[in-house]
Amino acid sequence: MKQKLFDKFTELFGSSEGAHFYFAPGRVNLIGEHTDYNGGHVFPCALTMGTYGVARKREDRTMHFYSMNLDGIGVVEASLDDLTNKKEYDWANYPLGVVWAFAEKGHTLDSGFDMVIWGDIPDGAGLSSSAALEVLTGVILTDLFGFADLTMTDLALFGQYSENNFNGCNCGIMDQFASANGKKDNAIFLDTNTLKFEYAPIKLEDAKIIITNSKVKHSLVDSAYNDRRQECTDALAALKTKLDVSSLGDLTPEEFEANKELIADPVQLKRAKHAVYENQRTIDAVEALKNNDIAKFGELMNQSHISLRDDYEVSCEEIDILVDLAWKIPGVIGSRITGGGFGGCTVSIVKNDAVDTFIESIGKTYKEKVGHEAEFYTVDIGAGASRLD
Ligand code: GLA
Repeated sequence: MKQKLFDKFTELFGSSEGAHFYFAPGRVNLIGEHTDYNGGHVFPCALTMGTYGVARKREDRTMHFYSMNLDGIGVVEASLDDLTNKKEYDWANYPLGVVWAFAEKGHTLDSGFDMVIWGDIPDGAGLSSSAALEVLTGVILTDLFGFADLTMTDLALFGQYSENNFNGCNCGIMDQFASANGKKDNAIFLDTNTLKFEYAPIKLEDAKIIITNSKVKHSLVDSAYNDRRQECTDALAALKTKLDVSSLGDLTPEEFEANKELIADPVQLKRAKHAVYENQRTIDAVEALKNNDIAKFGELMNQSHISLRDDYEVSCEEIDILVDLAWKIPGVIGSRITGGGFGGCTVSIVKNDAVDTFIESIGKTYKEKVGHEAEFYTVDIGAGASRLD
């Protein structure tokens, strides 16, 4: 792929002399869903799937963006003198948003740049292709313009800032953080309240992590996501009338149970319950992993799914079919929806000798029930974003 990107760069911009090669991964979250904007814990890992880019500084104030996944769009041109979101920029609003976020945070570019990208994260699957693109851009800008003081966590925060304020999705920090700080063969146990994190080695001797792509994405994703956030904010405000807490992640399930009558609205109550218990499940799951208790880890994944389905209500029929089918297969240790929800993917831990059955039988029944094929990917946990040459 590297050569193809450089060849395209040369074709578009005359030569590739002085251009460099970069990568940022997508992510899958093992447990800790919809906790990142509630001050709770998450446990994602970076994938080996991701977005590659070749980039070089220019002399003038022009930026050129080209995606080899979207050749039809051609070269998108923007100017440093007009950092605004424009419909015609299409996908390039993501890298442009990062340029804008850098400027907002005091890291103004003194010239433009050219950038060609290609990625292998399946589109619309909820595996964070947009976060990968944001973090990729962050790594490129830091390298090309010599912003040596920025950490990978800063790049994750700039990516989130651009997505929230330039591209209109009120996402948490998990996706950008995983793409920026991923480590091969490790998941990231992140406290989103403090941004303190530790790596947890994932060495499953006799099992694999399998992502199943439902290949559906329901259109309400962004609005429903923002609604969930609001419901949690309202539930927290109700708790704050009596409790000294700054986020739902501050509460243990016991503290929540003792004070839950403060939340009068039944929908807000369910949302808050999920956020509190999911945070505890994530802490418990990482503990189980440290103790090599993979069965417990799987059980917590299953409970996570039930809570996301019933209390947080971010699953959908197609995803529930995939999870129900997985739960019935001997050798499946745990299975749940992963990511924002309303379609996208499930993540499952499957014993090695059950992997073929898992893929064949779920693949067949899903097609019969839903009418189109699911896709399966065996997870290889990769490193975070970096320059590769
Ligand atoms: C999306 C968001 C994340 C996180 C998850 C749900 O992926 O981008 O910040 O909230 O949904 O856990």
